[in-house]
Amino acid sequence: MKHFLSLKDCTKSEILEILKYSIEIKHRFLNNERIIPYFKDKVLAMIFEKSSTRTRISFEVGAYQLGGSAIFLSNKEIQLGRGESIQDTARVISSMVDMIMIRTFEHSRIEEFVKFANVPVINGLSNEFHPTQLIADYLTMIENGISEDSNLIAPYSKRESIKKPVVCYIGDGNNMAHSWLMLASKLGFELRIATPKGFEPQKDILDLAFHFSKESGAKIELTNSPKDAISRANVITTDTWISMGQENQKASKLKQFEGFCIDENLMKLGDKEAIFLHCLPAYRGYEVSNEVIEGKQSKVFDEAENRLHAQKGIMAFLGEQNCKK
Ligand code: CP
Ligand code: NVA
Repeated sequence: MKHFLSLKDCTKSEILEILKYSIEIKHRFLNNERIIPYFKDKVLAMIFEKSSTRTRISFEVGAYQLGGSAIFLSNKEIQLGRGESIQDTARVISSMVDMIMIRTFEHSRIEEFVKFANVPVINGLSNEFHPTQLIADYLTMIENGISEDSNLIAPYSKRESIKKPVVCYIGDGNNMAHSWLMLASKLGFELRIATPKGFEPQKDILDLAFHFSKESGAKIELTNSPKDAISRANVITTDTWISMGQENQKASKLKQFEGFCIDENLMKLGDKEAIFLHCLPAYRGYEVSNEVIEGKQSKVFDEAENRLHAQKGIMAFLGEQNCKK
């Protein structure tokens, strides 16, 4: 059974295959082919143990636009929230639906879930990884002419000259930083990560990224200096400093992240055609200034919209992979 839990479990060609599906689906969508039956008459269950705007809507609309439907299950409404085990929940839900997306806390909860599920499972965000977001992010890069693979250009893209990605992530070494590490190390591009001291990515995930980079040729650098990381970068990105579940750390984290706000002065040190990405939700004045997120280089709303097409690409890919078996 093929699942989509983290990019660490995907090969480069699988990631490119998902991107090709996403590009094809978006292209057809833009040509008014709104319903493409890759998930016809199927049902996606979406389990949310944390809040969501983009992930929930893009999966729900995405399942519909692939000819199927989706059920939203928040842990306030299902017995999982009252202590029913992950094992029993996985067995029961997967006996009734065709695919499951789950957003939860520790990644190990998803891995446990998968052991007992007999349908494909998608990670809609865990404390450690947010892989569906990265497909939308890379799709947005491709559309802006930034791609590791010059063959991977969206037919509806505006740019003609292709630039190799030089991605700079400034912020918390969390699920988004980890996911950028997996994407860069699998596809083979340059990634600089700047975090405050003590907020570096997890060591086991860094080790994995360095291991994958040996084969892919990715160049990965870590620093505690946003200025060093941003120089010549053509993709500049960040994430909230206070992830879901960390609300009680807000006061101390705001102090520790001083100097890490991406503002216009910092942006000037990157490539002058750099794009700014943010998975959202954004907190203006903290990880990014209002001027940057609302500025010309910001592609955050294209990126959010691309979640819809990326989600459909992932569901189409999983449908095809699991049919083959
Ligand atoms: N970026 C993202 O996953 O947004 P939501 O939390 O709104 O789903
Ligand atoms: N790091 C953030 C991402 C939100 C999409 C969180 O986990 O809350």
